[in-house]
Amino acid sequence: MPADNKNKVTILKLKRQKRLGKKTVMTTAYDYPQATIADRAGVDAVLIGDSLGMTTMGHKSTLPVTMEDMIRAAESVARGAKSAFLIGDMPYMSYQVSNEEAVHNAGRFIRAGMDCVKVEGAMTERIKAICEAGIMVMSHLGLTPHTRAKLGGYKVQGKTAKQAEIILEQALALEEAGCSFLLLEGMPRESAQMISEKLSIPVYGIGAGDKVDGQLVIFHDLMGLFWEFKSKFVKRYCEAGQIMCNALKEYAEEVRNGTFPSEENFYDIKEEELEKLLSGGNWKVERVVYETDQGFPTNHSATPNTTKKRLS
Ligand code: KIV
Repeated sequence: MPADNKNKVTILKLKRQKRLGKKTVMTTAYDYPQATIADRAGVDAVLIGDSLGMTTMGHKSTLPVTMEDMIRAAESVARGAKSAFLIGDMPYMSYQVSNEEAVHNAGRFIRAGMDCVKVEGAMTERIKAICEAGIMVMSHLGLTPHTRAKLGGYKVQGKTAKQAEIILEQALALEEAGCSFLLLEGMPRESAQMISEKLSIPVYGIGAGDKVDGQLVIFHDLMGLFWEFKSKFVKRYCEAGQIMCNALKEYAEEVRNGTFPSEENFYDIKEEELEKLLSGGNWKVERVVYETDQGFPTNHSATPNTTKKRLS
């Protein structure tokens, strides 16, 4: 049995944070470096969101994202985030068709290293089935992107007392069905607060004000890596896209003006080989193949070292 990571965030810690009124911090990640960064920053929970369709694949919505896209991302994130609580986002049509498909696909996320899955909408039957299979579920209500056409677009939800009450009823039914967490998206803070106070499970928000148990902001939004639009609830904490663009411009300039690569980036050649090389004619041209030596990458490059192997 593998030893438990004592820093691993579990449902017990997340529930304790709610009890103590300590806010939970969540972001998304879709690959190994993002997951590593989130873990190092001490983020409590990471959602492998199907928002990857927009942030990473360049689609206009999350609807084209498949289970295969999600599992590949989930596995990469699980390799990078050793401590954060990991939530796999069930993509469009991975849970709607039947309880069997929903349970099967939720199980794939758990095998990929997730602690929990997220399911959009008031899918009480599905949530019950997944929970009965022993898999934790985060329900997602309010602005639910999978049904955005039905909502008339990406519109703030729960803006009237009646709407907020309907969402509350759905939330109570989902809690009753066994879900462990609720995520509210795109709602006035007062409506989200009312729902949060009526539930005993942790309730988190993305664009749902500050009166919930924690916040989710998409990695690319807070880092300045998504340029298509910026929602009102998003705060940019850096302009990583601009920083990266500047770095690439500098690199391009140095390549073009011959400043890079320089002495510190060159590999050595033995003195006697250099002499042979420079004296010319003392060496004969041999065909060589290059194969990787299976070594680890150097600390500044993902390019494997190569060794020459002479063909007889
Ligand atoms: O995919 C995602 O990142 C999400 C959030 C927008 C809640 O579902």
